Amino acid sequence: MSHNTIEINRAMDRFDGHHSVWLFGYGSLIWKADFPYLERRPACIAGWVRRFWQGSHDHRGTLEAPGRVVTLVPQEGALCYGMAYLVTPEEFTHLDHREKNGYLRLPIDIRFDGGGSEEGLVYIARHDNAAYLGEAPELVIARQIAGARGPSGPNVEYLVHLAHALREMGHEDEHVFAIERHLAGLAKQQTK
Ligand code: SIN
Repeated sequence: MSHNTIEINRAMDRFDGHHSVWLFGYGSLIWKADFPYLERRPACIAGWVRRFWQGSHDHRGTLEAPGRVVTLVPQEGALCYGMAYLVTPEEFTHLDHREKNGYLRLPIDIRFDGGGSEEGLVYIARHDNAAYLGEAPELVIARQIAGARGPSGPNVEYLVHLAHALREMGHEDEHVFAIERHLAGLAKQQTK
C-alpha cells in the first residue's frame, strides 16, 4: 500500500448518511484537535495497544530522516485509552489529509469512560503501509525521535504532548513513558 491513503479513506462508506460520527483518537488526535467537534469524551478501545511503530515523513520527519509516531497494534485483552470526538462527516476531508501518511479509517467499538459505547472510526497505520517502520527497542525509538524534525515540528514535541495528555487523563502507557524516560536520559547526556 502506498504512503497516501486519502483515496482509500474517501471510499470508506460505512457511515454514509449519518449526520455525525464518533472518531477515536489515541495519538496526536488526543492533544491536537484542529477540527470542530460536537462533543468530546474520554474513551477506550479493546484489543489494541499504542506503539511508536509508524514512520512520519510528512509531519514529524522527512523522507531522508523519518520520525516515529503512534499506530495501534492488536493485543488480546489490552485496552487503549484516548479521546473520542463526535464530528460531522465533512470533517473527514481535513482528517484524511492530516492522517494521509499510511493511516486507514477503520470501524471500531468505542467505550466511553463512565459507561456506554458506540461504533465509530479510528485511524490505524497497518504494517502493510509503505511508511511503516515496525518494532524496535524503546531506546532505539527514542534516539530516532530525538533526531527527527518535520514540517509540524520536532518529533520530541509529539511524544512530550502525548505523554502529558495521557498523564492528565490519568492513564499509564508503559511504552510511551519508557520512551519519554530514554529521551530525558539522552537530553541529559547531551548537556554533559
Ligand atoms: C490518532 O491520533 O488517533 C492517530 C495518530 C496520530 O495522528 O498521531
